[in-house]
Order: sequence, then C-alpha cells, then structure tokens
Amino acid sequence: MKIINTIAGLKSALKAHRLKDQSLGFVPTMGALHPGHISLIDRARAENEVVVCSIFVNPTQFDNPDDLKKYPRTLEADCKLLEPVGCDFVFAPSAEEMYPTLPKLTFDFGNLEHVMEGKFRDGHFNGVGIVVSKLFHIVNPDRAYFGQKDLQQVAVLRRMVNDLSFDLELIPCPTLREKDGLAMSSRNTRLSAEARKIAPQLHAALQKAKDLLIQGKTAEETQKEIDLFFKNIPEFRLEYFEIADFDDLEPIEKMNTEGKTAICTAAYLDGVRLIDNIVF
Ligand code: PAJ
Repeated sequence: MKIINTIAGLKSALKAHRLKDQSLGFVPTMGALHPGHISLIDRARAENEVVVCSIFVNPTQFDNPDDLKKYPRTLEADCKLLEPVGCDFVFAPSAEEMYPTLPKLTFDFGNLEHVMEGKFRDGHFNGVGIVVSKLFHIVNPDRAYFGQKDLQQVAVLRRMVNDLSFDLELIPCPTLREKDGLAMSSRNTRLSAEARKIAPQLHAALQKAKDLLIQGKTAEETQKEIDLFFKNIPEFRLEYFEIADFDDLEPIEKMNTEGKTAICTAAYLDGVRLIDNIVF
C-alpha cells in the first residue's frame, strides 16, 4: 500500500494502472476509519483491480470552524486498518495541496441541499460537491463507493454525477450497524455508557415508522406515533424525522408504492449528533 500526499504524485502512480486498462475503485473518506468505512473498501476491493482511498478532512464542508478543528485526524491508525484489507493507494493531501486558493465555485443542488441535513448545516453540500468533484477529477475512478448512512450525500452526488456527466458508476453501500442496530460512526465512542444503551432507539424509531407506513398509516399519523415514542425517551433531542421520496427527498404523504421511501432522522444524544435512515 502506498501513501501519497500530492495530486501530481497520485496521478502519476495511477497512470501505470490506467495504461494497463485496470479498473479503479475509489472510496473517499475523512479518516477516523471504522468498520463501516472498511465495508466500502471491501466492496471496492471485490469489484476492481486497483483500490484508492482518500483521507482528507475537507474544510469547505464544515460550517463550524470548531468542528473542523476538533475532527479526529488519525492517519497512522487509519493506514493500519486499510493495509490488511487490500487498499492499494491512500491519498492523504494537505488542505494547501487541495486548495492552494479557496474555490469560488458554488453548486446549487436546489431543494435537495436545503432539506434535512441542509437545513442544519449551511453550505455543507456545496463543500461536499466541490471536494468530491475535485477528487473524481484527480482519481478518475471507474466506480466510487459511498455509504447509504449519508443518504442525502448520495442523493446530491448522484445528481452531480448525472448533471456533469462524470464517467463513473456511483455505488451506494448499505449502512454497517452494531449488533443492537446503532449505525456505526466514529461519534459513537463519544457517547457515555448510559447514552450508548439508549442510542439504538434511533434505529428502532425508524423501524417502527417503516412498519406503520407499511401497515397503511399516513405520514402524518406515523409522525404522531413517533412523537409519542420520543416523548418516552427525553434524552434524545430530535432535529428532524422526515418521511420522504427516496429520489428527490421531498416529503410524501404515504408510503411510496411506485418508488422507494426513505425515512431520515438526526438527533442529539448526550451532546452527540447522530444521524440514521431507512429505505424501503
Ligand atoms: P466520512 O464521514 O469519512 O465517510 C466516508 C464514507 O463512509 C461515506 O460514504 C459514508 O457514508 C461512509 N460511512 C460512514 N459510516 C458508515 C457506516 N456505518 N456504514 C457504511 N458506510 C458508512 O462522508 C464523508 O466522509 C465526506 O463527506 C466525503 C464524502 C469524504 C467528502 O469529504
């Protein structure tokens, strides 16, 4: 496994593989890797001849400078996880390497960037669009792998890939969960033992809402039941709990029978912001 810090260095290392017409799978990350990230590498490894993982804490997607400062940077530990699963290249550029000058370019993803996460994280998806398009140009992969855990990110990037004709396949991968249902996240380690016991209730709420919608309840009826559910667990401070169309993330009144339904939620527990979703 090679660790490369410059754009020119990565491009030249990948050229040799390009010349041999080898397929290239790409997994963009911000590091602090856990088994959820590694499941994306496993998938990329199974489907491609060459696997590249980027580790870059992208300043343009943080609306809060303190969050950016506090984001864990654990390159050495990350590489120890990546090597045994067969990652070929780790691309770990500095902020100066990626942004010698801050891009003035802005994306407009329409309503897709204003709902759910977009409501609470101003400019976040613009920053994701900028860094991912930049990384796509640098790596030029055949396939790029993203976790459904960040469903809205996948929806935004799917639009970007289509609108800008990126010549790659975007592959959404299932959310890896702990045994009790909690979606894996590096933030989970910040939960107290007490909060960690309660945390899987977020996924339980999604399951409950899914069951109610399948039974034929309207979104409004389902929301009321979910409000009651969370009243009994006051430790959660719910930010949103949305029942939406999978493709455009617009709210829907009943379960989608023609396409897929997505239920997405974000909540604070013990000062930690957790997000999760379910698609059916
Ligand atoms: P990061 O939060 O590091 O996540 C990297 C990838 O891992 C994302 O595609 C995310 O959805 C996926 N992931 C996280 N937890 C997962 C889990 N439990 N199961 C499966 N996949 C999981 O998302 C980003 O970084 C950034 O926005 C990025 C795309 C790298 C752009 O900066």
